[in-house]
Amino acid sequence: MTAPERTVDALALDLADPQTYVDHDPVWLWREIRDRNPMHWNEPKNGVPGFWAVSRYADVVSVYKDTKNFTSERGNVLSTLLQGHDSAAGKMLAVTDGAHHRAVRNLMLKSFSPRLLDHVAELVRQRTRDLFAGVVGTGQFDFASDVADNIPINTIGDLMDVPQADRQQLVEWNNKTLARHSSEDGEMEEWLARNEILMYFGSLAEQRRRNPGDDVVSALATGLVEGKPLPDDEIVFNCYSLILGADESSRMSSIGAIRALAENPEQWRALKDGDVSIESATEEVLRWTTPAMHFGRRAVADVEIGGATIREGDVVTLWNSSANFDEAVFPGAERFDLARTPNKHLAFGFGPHFCLGAFLGRAHVGAVLGCLRDTVSDIRLPAEPTRLYSNFVYGYSSLPVELVP
Ligand code: HEM
Repeated sequence: MTAPERTVDALALDLADPQTYVDHDPVWLWREIRDRNPMHWNEPKNGVPGFWAVSRYADVVSVYKDTKNFTSERGNVLSTLLQGHDSAAGKMLAVTDGAHHRAVRNLMLKSFSPRLLDHVAELVRQRTRDLFAGVVGTGQFDFASDVADNIPINTIGDLMDVPQADRQQLVEWNNKTLARHSSEDGEMEEWLARNEILMYFGSLAEQRRRNPGDDVVSALATGLVEGKPLPDDEIVFNCYSLILGADESSRMSSIGAIRALAENPEQWRALKDGDVSIESATEEVLRWTTPAMHFGRRAVADVEIGGATIREGDVVTLWNSSANFDEAVFPGAERFDLARTPNKHLAFGFGPHFCLGAFLGRAHVGAVLGCLRDTVSDIRLPAEPTRLYSNFVYGYSSLPVELVP
């Protein structure tokens, strides 16, 4: 992209360092890696172990599918994979494999029935319309804090029946645990915030066990898995994963949608004129923004992937943000094209751990696109956005914008 990138060697950058994604355009970074060394070994640095970075679509899919040779139980994102374990392994859906994973996933899916989700999607649209009504035509505002931050937390809050008064606090803890907003935010703060969330859900689950409703916390607190109630720590970890999964990535895709449309006026026109459907536009926004840049696995056997020999015990990271721009699958991948079909992006992952909340993620993005189409004539970006400091979530913690009615 920009001229300075030409002087930088993408293969020498540290893919574990969050600063890499603040300083460099990920589209450029991953194009270089895919073209030059698609099964890239990120060398150990500053005491951090080395790991594989898988960048081609086909190779990423083959690892996602391969539950025989790869496990999620020793972490599924760089931070836990590199420390060698995840304290929630075997207790939280995303870091649990095999029969127990399937059983817990099925229990949670019962709270996500299509009838219930249709109702939730309608609430998302209403809430988004109300938020837009408060900002369209008001001059410059921050789309992140004034709109996006308020949508997903309330959706998952509804599904979990989290009291309204507690929701803002959850967003704040959440922001600290997933993507620190700069290198200055400390690890201790991150750890404390995670504990706050866990304690919060511990007490909520306790209340629901005594007094269950039809929300997902009650389902976890009262349901049976393989004939037995779930232990308290599993209930709490799974609540935690819902809040984390639901909140930040959905926010990032909506914020990214605003930016992408402002920067691609002909696509904005196509959306406004009804030349593309909200469904198709939603998929392209998800591909284009790919909020969860990577997930990962640990190899449990020696295995060959994309011509490279992975050794038992190796950490293997799967870069959705690269696979989603792989020309072999997405012709003209670097073009934002709301009419793109097919569009089998990997923003929600693939295989047995495919995102449990994909329906809700799509509902969030679709609601924002619908409001833009119906209530906004022009999107202006008056100032630079602020990028998140993360090697996992890609997006913006602040996006100054003006939406003209
Ligand atoms: C799993 C992305 C929204 C809950 C995943 C995975 C990805 C992902 C890539 C796969 C993880 C892996 O393979 O290790 C996203 C994106 C979202 C989104 C981009 C929004 C745009 C949501 C929402 C919820 C949610 C709204 C909650 C309702 C989960 C859970 C898992 C998961 C619980 C673990 C599933 C399992 O291990 O079986 N998500 N997600 N996500 N997501 Fe999402």
